[in-house]
Amino acid sequence: MRTKIAGMGYYVPERIVSNKEFESIMDTSDEWIQERTGIKERRFGKAHLETTTTLGARAAEAAMSDAGVEKNDIDFIIFATLSPDYYFPGCGVLMQRELKMTKNEAGALDIRNQCSGFIYGLSIADQFIKTGQYKNILLVGAEMHSMGLDFSTRGRNVSVIFGDGAGAVILQPTDDDSEGVVNTVLHSDGTYAEELAFINPGCHGGYHSNKEQYGYPDTDFGGVFLTQKMWDDQMIFPNMNGQLVFKMAIQKFPEVIISGLNKAGLNVSDINMLIPHQANLRISQFVQHKLGLRDDQVWNNIQRYGNTTAATIPIAMCEARDAGKINKGDLVCIAAFGSGFTWGSALIRW
Ligand code: UT7
Repeated sequence: MRTKIAGMGYYVPERIVSNKEFESIMDTSDEWIQERTGIKERRFGKAHLETTTTLGARAAEAAMSDAGVEKNDIDFIIFATLSPDYYFPGCGVLMQRELKMTKNEAGALDIRNQCSGFIYGLSIADQFIKTGQYKNILLVGAEMHSMGLDFSTRGRNVSVIFGDGAGAVILQPTDDDSEGVVNTVLHSDGTYAEELAFINPGCHGGYHSNKEQYGYPDTDFGGVFLTQKMWDDQMIFPNMNGQLVFKMAIQKFPEVIISGLNKAGLNVSDINMLIPHQANLRISQFVQHKLGLRDDQVWNNIQRYGNTTAATIPIAMCEARDAGKINKGDLVCIAAFGSGFTWGSALIRW
C-alpha cells in the first residue's frame, strides 16, 4: 500500500505587490530584493476579506475538484500554516466550516513546522493512509503573511520576502507500487528556535531569555500574554537571522535530499523534478548546482510569489504539473528547510 497524490490545487490572491511598492514605505529597493532573493513580486490577500483559512479553502476546492472527490468524501484534514487566523482553534476546523464540510465530522489536524509544514503533513498523511485508517486526506498549506509583517524599515529583511497563498493535495491509497510517496525524511534542531521566529505575543513569559527584555511584570497569576513594552517597542513581528538561516539551509537541503535517495536506493540522476521550498532563489540555485541538476529539473516560482512558507511546495508542484513538467512515472523530490529549525524531504513517484 502506498499513498498517491490524487489531485492538487492552489490559490493565490489577485493583488500583485511589486518590489517597487515597498520603496515608498521603507528603505529598500527593487534591485536589493531581486539581487538577494530573486523575488520580483508577491501576492497579498484582501485584509478583512481573505484569511489563511479562506485561501486554504480555495486551494482545497481546486484540489478536490482535480481529484474528483466530494467534500464529504474527505475523511481527514491536515492544515499546515504559521499564520493562523486564531491562536486557537486552528485553521483546519475553520476551513471545514468555511467549506461546509462538517457533515461527516472528519478529524482536522493543524500542524506548525513552518517552511517544512507541507512535508511534515505529507509524512503524517502517508502514515495514516498506509495503516488503512483514512482513504481521502486533504492536506493544505496556506499563509496570509501580509497581516503579520513589520512594514517599517526595521522589518525589511523579513517583510519583503514573504507572500500570501495556498496549495492543497488530496491523498489516497494505491496498490500500485510503481506510483506514490516513496519515502519522507523529517528532521529538526530546536537549538536555533529563536533564529527565525514569531515570539510575541505568547505564553513564554521571558523564560527563554529574560523577563525584563519583554517588560513582564512580577505576577503569581499569569495573565501576561502581551506586555505594554512589547507593544511600545513593536516586538510583535517575526524576526530572522537571515545569514544563519541561509548557511544552514544550503547545508541541510542537499543532505536531506541525498538521505531520502539513499534510503530508497536511488541516486540524484533518478530525480526528474526537484521542487525546493521557495525561500530564496539563491538557495534553490545553490542546491541545484550542488546536486548537478539542470535548470529544467528544478521548479522555481519565488520570483512571482515570494515565500509563501507552508504553501510554496504545493503551489509549485501544481504549477509544474500544469505546465507539463511532471509526467507519469517521474520521480519528484520535494524538500524544505526553515524555522525551528525543521527540515525534510519527500520522494514521490508520479
Ligand atoms: O523560509 C524561511 C527560511 N528563510 C530563509 O531561508 C531565508 C534565508 N536568508 C536569506 O534569504 C537572506 O539572508 C536574506 C534575503 C534574508 C538577506 O540577504 P543577505 O544577503 O543575507 O543580507 P544581510 O542580512 O547580510 O544584509 C545585508 C545588508 C544589511 O545592511 P548593512 O548591515 O550591510 O548595512 C541589511 O540591513 O542589507 C540590508 N538589508 C536590506 N537592504 C535593503 C536587509 N534587508 C534589506 C532590504 N532592503 N529589504
